[in-house]
Amino acid sequence: MTPDLKAMILDLVRAYHTERTPDDQEFVPGVTPVLSSGAVLEAEDRLALVEAALDMRIAAGFHALRFERSFARYFGLRKAHLVNSGSSANLLALSALRASELGDRRLRPGDEVITVAAGFPTTVNPIVQNGLIPVFVDVELGTYNTTAERVAAAIGPRTRAIMIAHALGNPFEAAEIAELAERHGLWFVEDNCDAVGSLYGGRLTGTFGHLSTVSFYPAHHITTGEGGCVLTDSVELAHLVESFRDWGRDCWCEPGEDNRCKKRFDWQLGTLPAGYDHKYTFSQVGYNLKATDLQAALGLSQLERIQAFGEARRKNWQRLREELDGVPGLLLPRPTPGSDPSWFGFALTVTPDAPFGRGELQQHLEERQIRTRLLFSGNLTRHPAYRDVEFRVAGDLSNSDAVVHGTFWIGVYPGITDDMILHVGRTIREFVAGRH
Ligand SMILES: Cc1ncc(COP(=O)(O)O)c(C=O)c1O
Repeated sequence: MTPDLKAMILDLVRAYHTERTPDDQEFVPGVTPVLSSGAVLEAEDRLALVEAALDMRIAAGFHALRFERSFARYFGLRKAHLVNSGSSANLLALSALRASELGDRRLRPGDEVITVAAGFPTTVNPIVQNGLIPVFVDVELGTYNTTAERVAAAIGPRTRAIMIAHALGNPFEAAEIAELAERHGLWFVEDNCDAVGSLYGGRLTGTFGHLSTVSFYPAHHITTGEGGCVLTDSVELAHLVESFRDWGRDCWCEPGEDNRCKKRFDWQLGTLPAGYDHKYTFSQVGYNLKATDLQAALGLSQLERIQAFGEARRKNWQRLREELDGVPGLLLPRPTPGSDPSWFGFALTVTPDAPFGRGELQQHLEERQIRTRLLFSGNLTRHPAYRDVEFRVAGDLSNSDAVVHGTFWIGVYPGITDDMILHVGRTIREFVAGRH
């Protein structure tokens, strides 16, 4: 194929994108859906995907490595590992901490991991899947995060780790919890899936934990379609994450490489004969959770706009907050003190004294094409999946239960326009006024 032919194809792709994406799509209140989240895809994204496809970059390779380096640089961390989802990232982060290479620091079956009940299941599932015991702490209403104080009170003799997500982009007290982890010799994993670009004390969330995770599902701050990432500043942990991601192999050759360690046939590990090919020596009971180069190509193009996406999320949240200020019967969200969230969503809790229920309000909004979402599980311990799971509750989960009954969230993602925000604000205010 000549370069000219490729350039012609890409020109056509750009023209196709323009044709498929009319400049001003008219917003018709009550007719045009106001989504809770969604990917914001431009011509560059389409071009990146098509170009990677033209180059037949089908497995993880060149683009995946470039993406990992760029994304790690964005956080100022040493290592990033691209994976096929945020859930996989969480599974890898916690599985890596079970590795025997960590000696006495390794997590062992029966060890406790402090986490939050009002969250997404796959923040917690890796704890259970690794034979560890979740210890659930409650959240605050308004921030929807737990506090360092609650986490401190939950630490028991078998507690070995903390794994918590920043709720809807709102940072939890990451510095204080990192300090707590340090003081008690606990591992700290930050589920940063919903909070890329959020700041706590002026520092990016995802940089406080020993490991942190990101999701690139279309609802998230940048997307690769399906996808996720594990980040760490520790070369030791990065090596373990990579091994668990790549079938559990001991070898750390990049895709296409054969002898990065320069002693491929000089190892003797386990009870294998000396010289057994390092490429086929397995030091972990691993998985294959890699993403493809097509996904990475899209990720690279999305990464260019990460700043602008964060600004749009902040602006939309602020506008909506102003629109809804003072509406009775609703608890409005608030950022954790000292934070600057790159918001994932706008949470609303219908207060117990309100003359309407969450369901009624949600239905009213949905009928007017305003999409609503629950704060994920609300209280994970109430779900059928966890009926037979061993866990401990530290304190009580009364606020998580309040989330189950009263909370939902609406969109602030960059695809939301000012007109949409006015429509959402007006619709909610009219509904509430009609009930008072
Ligand atoms: C906090 C949190 N963690 C993990 C995940 C899982 O990410 P994925 O859907 O990419 O598996 C999500 C999904 O939205 C999430 O909100």
